[in-house]
Amino acid sequence: MFDDPQSPAWNPLLAAAWKARDHAHAPYSRFQVGAALLTEAGTVFAGCNVENAAYPVCLCAERGALSAAVAAGLRPGGLVAAVVVTDVAELTPPCGACRQALIEFAGDLPVLLANRQARQLHRLEKLLPHSFTGSHFR
Ligand code: THU
Repeated sequence: MFDDPQSPAWNPLLAAAWKARDHAHAPYSRFQVGAALLTEAGTVFAGCNVENAAYPVCLCAERGALSAAVAAGLRPGGLVAAVVVTDVAELTPPCGACRQALIEFAGDLPVLLANRQARQLHRLEKLLPHSFTGSHFR
C-alpha cells in the first residue's frame, strides 16, 4: 500500500498536508511546507512550518505534525506513513532535525515527498542511515 507512491492510500495524508500548508506561517522564507503523519490507530496528524522573527525558533512542518501526534498518544513504533508537500519544482525532503525526530517513532517509515505534479517515495532509514538512538546510551 504505502510502498506505491501512486496508491490512493496516500490521499488522506496528501489532503491533510496540503490543507495544513495553507496555514503555514512563513513570512521570512516565503516557503510554505505541509506535512502529515498516519498513525497505526488510523489517525492523520498534520503540521505546517511556523517561522519566527527570531529565526532559530522556526518550526518545521514535520515536527509540528509529530508534536500533535505525540500529544494525542503516539508512541515509538506507532507511525505508519509520512507526507511532505511543497509547491516548488524540486521535491522537499525532511531536514536533518526532522529525520532524527521522526526516526525516534519509526525506523522503516515510508516518506512521500510531493508537489502538485510529482511524487517520490523514500524510507526514513535510508534518509538517515546509522542514526543515533536511545540504545547508544542506555
Ligand atoms: N521546512 C520545513 O518545514 N520542512 C522541511 O522539510 C524543510 C524546511 C521549513 C523551515 C522554514 O520555515 C522553511 O521551510 C525554509 O527553510
